[in-house]
Amino acid sequence: MFGVGTPAMVAAAEKAGTLGSLPLGDLTYEKCVDIIRATKAITTQPFAANIFVYDTPALTDELKHQYKTTRSFLEQLAAQHGLEVTLPDIESIKVAGYREQVDALIAENCRIVSFTFGNLDAESVRRLKQNGACLIGTCTTIEEALILEQSGIDLICVQGIEAGGHRGTFTPGDIPSIGGMSLLSQVFDKVKRPLIYAGGLYDAKTILAARTLGAKGFQIGSMLLGSTESALQDFEKQRLRQAQERDIILTNSFSGRYARGLRNIYTAAVDNTPHILPYPYQNKLTGPLRTAAKAKQNAGFVSIWAGQSLNGYPAISTTDILQQLIDQLNQSPV
Ligand SMILES: Cc1cc2nc3c(=O)[nH]c(=O)nc-3n(C[C@H](O)[C@H](O)[C@H](O)COP(=O)(O)O)c2cc1C
Repeated sequence: MFGVGTPAMVAAAEKAGTLGSLPLGDLTYEKCVDIIRATKAITTQPFAANIFVYDTPALTDELKHQYKTTRSFLEQLAAQHGLEVTLPDIESIKVAGYREQVDALIAENCRIVSFTFGNLDAESVRRLKQNGACLIGTCTTIEEALILEQSGIDLICVQGIEAGGHRGTFTPGDIPSIGGMSLLSQVFDKVKRPLIYAGGLYDAKTILAARTLGAKGFQIGSMLLGSTESALQDFEKQRLRQAQERDIILTNSFSGRYARGLRNIYTAAVDNTPHILPYPYQNKLTGPLRTAAKAKQNAGFVSIWAGQSLNGYPAISTTDILQQLIDQLNQSPV
């Protein structure tokens, strides 16, 4: 969980005997190396290193123009709500391609590599596998699952519409739609690779349902948002705990890709307007706005990602949250 998951969360997940996942998003080579090393320093078990795999859209004149107008729209919106912030101009935006992250993962000998937003190119698959890596790709449609399988990806994470955070869809402009139950069951019928399910899991019965539909592994996201190892600030955790079901929406206004999280002043003002650039430009543009909002503890302008299963977001360690889930499963009659 980029922005929320930490090396400490990875270590805590491993204490419960589960596989921790280290979010590297679209960080540069150097940052990836630093975070991987910080994680290795506090874990003894293997962990999954997770990256965003996408190709950056070309910077056309039209996009540059849209960037300029979006930038001034967002600065004005923020100012109206007491947030004085200067957003970056397009020339100062740096986008690290995922291939440099692949270099970092190979240099650091990462043996489990998971990814979302798209599929790795054949050369990256070859290089990572030559280095002994097990690859986990994310799908949000049956078609994407088949593409991952055909590319030799070892395990497939099936992400249901319920999931918190960004949709792993390969086609970012599409409004995501298929529900987790329909998706998992059909992917299981059509692909041979072992499946991990992600989306809405919060107790033994939801995990058992995913197992019945064909999952061999279970990915837990939102349940860990309030944990002691979560990088969310206290005001964000408090906001989450107050959330009602209708507060959880899909929005592309923060990053240019659809993600599930809490609605707020920002999403109400920007969703469904022309002021949404393609990923990663929107994401880079709104980054300093979200940082300024965090500094002021202003929940109206931060992106708090969360899935559809409101779960109380326990304020205990990741180890205890996961151990309690495992205990529930072990005690379950099925
Ligand atoms: C705050 C947050 C950040 C996330 N960041 C990532 C990420 O960096 N990489 C990724 O593959 N998935 C990411 N996800 C999606 C999760 O991997 C997973 O699909 C989702 O959390 C499962 O649904 P749940 O939130 O209902 O448990 C994120 C989810 C959340 C809630």
